[in-house]
Amino acid sequence: MEGNDKMSLSIKHVSKVFVNEKGEEVTALGDINLEVEEGEFICILGPSGCGKTTLLRIIAGLDDPSSGRAEIGGREITGPAPELAMIFQEYSLYPWRTIIDNTAFGLEVRGISKEERYAKAREYLDLVGLKEFEGSYPYELSGGMRQRVAVARALCSEPQVLLMDEPFGALDAQTRNTMQKELLEIWKKTKKTVIFVTHSVDEAVYLSDRVVVLSPRPSEVREIVTVEQERPRERTSLEFAQVRRYVLSLIHNGNE
Ligand SMILES: Nc1ncnc2c1ncn2[C@@H]1O[C@H](COP(=O)(O)OP(=O)(O)O)[C@@H](O)[C@H]1O
Ligand SMILES: [Mg+2]
Repeated sequence: MEGNDKMSLSIKHVSKVFVNEKGEEVTALGDINLEVEEGEFICILGPSGCGKTTLLRIIAGLDDPSSGRAEIGGREITGPAPELAMIFQEYSLYPWRTIIDNTAFGLEVRGISKEERYAKAREYLDLVGLKEFEGSYPYELSGGMRQRVAVARALCSEPQVLLMDEPFGALDAQTRNTMQKELLEIWKKTKKTVIFVTHSVDEAVYLSDRVVVLSPRPSEVREIVTVEQERPRERTSLEFAQVRRYVLSLIHNGNE
């Protein structure tokens, strides 16, 4: 694929040590190594507390690794960069701003004119199916709709990489499945690289090109599972069940 290396991501021997309230050192990330190609959909799967959020924050430039480095397009990530946009689990919309003003927030901060930022925001609100809600306020929207706004807002800054930290974790099962389907459509249309953190095996196998399974703290990459099944994936298919069972076995073996 043309230009594949341009915006590839490299995680090289990344570790992260925190100091807890008692003053003890806690190694969240042991030694993480990962290469992600431009346009790939990657899920990072691992038990609670293994450092998934920490890893995503390091890639987003919101946190420094204790050792090692994260690179995008061959350059070290040393702080928030326009190529990278993060979407969090909790709804991070401003309740006092309308949907369009939430969506265009990043552009507003960058001093882009109202006309231009609204045009861009409308384009992405349309993509996530919320065009007619631009004048509404967050409280008027359901959880799933608010996460769609978060996706539209992230896309507005035209990043190459979307970093998603359990973005559908707070949604009910049915909404979650719908959101997964829609996210894959957006991914296909926009050709972004997606790094999606989850602790749901089902979600990881449904979404990703490759599932990166982390071990418990201090975490390392236990195994990377390539999901060959064509999309849209049928959850009830034998192939899906086999991959899911295999990924589950990787997680369980590690916890014993
Ligand atoms: N700012 C922090 N200070 C101290 N410890 C932290 C901090 N952030 C995370 N940790 C610890 O690092 C470990 C990994 O956390 P996190 O990345 O949130 O895991 P996950 O997202 O996989 O559940 C946990 O033990 C957590 O308590
Ligand atoms: Mg987390």
